[in-house]
Amino acid sequence: QARKLFNYNIVLIGFMGAGKSTISDFLKNVFAMDVVEMDQIIAQRQGMSISDIFETYGEQYFRDLETNLLIEMQSRSNVVISCGGGTPMRECNVVEMKKNGRVVLLTAKPETILDRVKDNHDRPLIENNKTVPFIADLMEKRRAKYEAAADIIIETDGKNELEICEELVHRL
Ligand code: S3P
Repeated sequence: QARKLFNYNIVLIGFMGAGKSTISDFLKNVFAMDVVEMDQIIAQRQGMSISDIFETYGEQYFRDLETNLLIEMQSRSNVVISCGGGTPMRECNVVEMKKNGRVVLLTAKPETILDRVKDNHDRPLIENNKTVPFIADLMEKRRAKYEAAADIIIETDGKNELEICEELVHRL
């Protein structure tokens, strides 16, 4: 069993396509940290895709599942928690995130985001609006909440995974 690097959790937040999952994978491979991919665990436990959860039960139900998962993770440490893009939109989720450890916001320009999300079809909030203006608008509406939740903000445009992780580890 590898020694635990951190006695707290690292919570990654940011817009869809900001790089949360990619950076989580990298931290898992390089530092042998456990990763909790919130969307993936929620989909797995519900036995349906994120799109189907939204369609069947609605967004609020999905947000409740996110809150519960953040509370559940507080009993663990050295875990990278990769949040859904909308997780910090709920004030109580931000409170539960902070109890987990350090909150890291990954940012990218709308053009970069569009490029990263264009081939994925399980993001119900943008599936029918994959354009730069729509993404820019939603991002702008969310910006203040993302920034208020974050302990550390990392811009990802034009950086590779290694550069982003180096910056993250330096600033933790
Ligand atoms: C959402 C982002 C998605 C997923 C759901 C809602 C959002 O996560 O949780 O589609 O509100 O921004 P990703 O950021 O992993 O795409």
